Amino acid sequence: MSGTQTTYNDKVVRQFAVMTVIWGIVGMLVGVIIAAQLVWPELNIGPWLHFGRLRPLHTNAVIFAFGGCALFATSYWVVQRTCHTRLWGGPLIPFTFWGWQLIILLAAVTLPLGITTGKEYAELEWPIDILITLVWVAYAVVFFGTIAVRKVSHIYVANWFFGAFIIAVALLHLGNSAEMPVSLTKSYSMYSGVQDAMVQWWYGHNAVGFFLTAGFLGMMYYFVPKQAGRPVYSYRLSVVHFWALIFTYMWAGPHHLHYTALPDWTQSIGMVFSLILLAPSWGGMINGIMTLSGAWHKLRDDPILKFLITSLSFYGMSTFEGPMMSIKTVNALSHYTDWTVGHVHSGALGWVAMVSIGSIYYLLPKLFGKTEMYSTKLVTTHFWIATIGTVLYIASMWIAGVMQGLMWRAVNADGTLAYSFVESVKGSYPFWAIRVLGGALFLTGMLIMAYNMFKTIAGGKTVDVPVVAPAGHHA
Ligand code: HEM
Ligand code: HEM
Repeated sequence: MSGTQTTYNDKVVRQFAVMTVIWGIVGMLVGVIIAAQLVWPELNIGPWLHFGRLRPLHTNAVIFAFGGCALFATSYWVVQRTCHTRLWGGPLIPFTFWGWQLIILLAAVTLPLGITTGKEYAELEWPIDILITLVWVAYAVVFFGTIAVRKVSHIYVANWFFGAFIIAVALLHLGNSAEMPVSLTKSYSMYSGVQDAMVQWWYGHNAVGFFLTAGFLGMMYYFVPKQAGRPVYSYRLSVVHFWALIFTYMWAGPHHLHYTALPDWTQSIGMVFSLILLAPSWGGMINGIMTLSGAWHKLRDDPILKFLITSLSFYGMSTFEGPMMSIKTVNALSHYTDWTVGHVHSGALGWVAMVSIGSIYYLLPKLFGKTEMYSTKLVTTHFWIATIGTVLYIASMWIAGVMQGLMWRAVNADGTLAYSFVESVKGSYPFWAIRVLGGALFLTGMLIMAYNMFKTIAGGKTVDVPVVAPAGHHA
């Protein structure tokens, strides 16, 4: 190449990385507030700041704002580095950043106002749905456009996972959001009755599989080998992992609808595919953890690696628990209880948040012209606070959940219920209080991260890094 050197486009990565931390704090703060509302009902300040309005704000903020920004930041970094080329797409690139932030702000305004479709994780009303579609198409064009202009023939496995995440989320969003507007702020689903429920949980479960898993596996396949300084344990396993995971996830949705009006055979198919899902999930986890072979000693004093490897342990745990909960007889106990909420957060805090935090810590110094974070000690502190917070959250929910399930099904000799519902609520209070503590710890960790991030930014300077030519390529 002659003349001016081509550089990577890291501006958009910087923007998304910083917003990951900011939205993480916002989303988790709302999480702590709703957790506290369950312990102290007086905190329900109605109607705008009521639990029912803030709960979807929490889920949208942590999944789409925090998780979404982490996915944008890492996929944009990874696709450039592994394709040895600058991000392709011109003005579409800043459009994905500003468009996504606008969607988040619109969610933050409309959800407390009670403007919602009522479909979990797809609550945003139709005008926002259209904006999501536009941003997502731009994202796909930028990502796959960059792959198309790559300077190496090989497409690294992390990009396969990011690519599957982008395509599947587009499909899910278009399929589940088909709706008939009746006003600017109200629409009705195109589906009705049990079909509506099935489409919603086909969406819901694949939101877990593709939004909360596939893209984060893309992170794992890039950042674990990078931070460990070792190649991926088995490239062949990663290919099998990829195809098995994306094929199997698509069929598991009905496990959210056990014992409903959904035909029984459909529920059984959902259960069987959920059980099969254990294999590819664990294949991926093992591939990530075994990448550390020969470098285990690095875990001792590298807090970024601690975040990444611990996240994989939680991933393994929640993908063992999920298949168990999908067995109909187990689900008869766990459904409607806090066991589900415990399962959710072992995936959400332990896996999604931790792998994102580790990856963002890897990126921050590189993005702002430094060799390492302002304070590695504070990263270690963050790791321990986050781990203790996660364990307190999920352990308390498991105990509360199993207790609730057992109390609801307990009967006296004459067949009457042994406990009233209110008794099970009363019994749950101590565990909900422990959850507030666990959540507050996790949030404190994020505040420490923000402090460390701003100190790192203040002490460094942003630099445009030249694109590295692939090996054997003569410039
Ligand atoms: C400080 C950390 C967090 C706290 C204190 C917290 C707290 C809560 C609470 C109290 C609920 C409502 C449970 C109920 O309805 O009984 C909830 C639901 C939920 N949270 Fe969090 N959360 C946190 C972090 C996260 C993160 C990081 C994610 C995702 C990446 C997440 C995803 C969800 C989801 C998906 C639900 C809905 C669960 C369901 O419907 O079963 N949370 N959270
Ligand atoms: C092999 C993998 C997995 C399987 C088979 C699985 C299975 C299940 C089952 C059976 C439920 C309970 C459904 C109910 O009773 O209503 C559930 C709920 C849930 N799981 Fe998983 N799970 C898996 C992994 C994960 C992971 C890794 C995450 C997060 C990152 C996650 C997030 C959720 C969420 C958010 C819900 C609650 C949905 C709702 O009711 O709002 N799951 N999962």
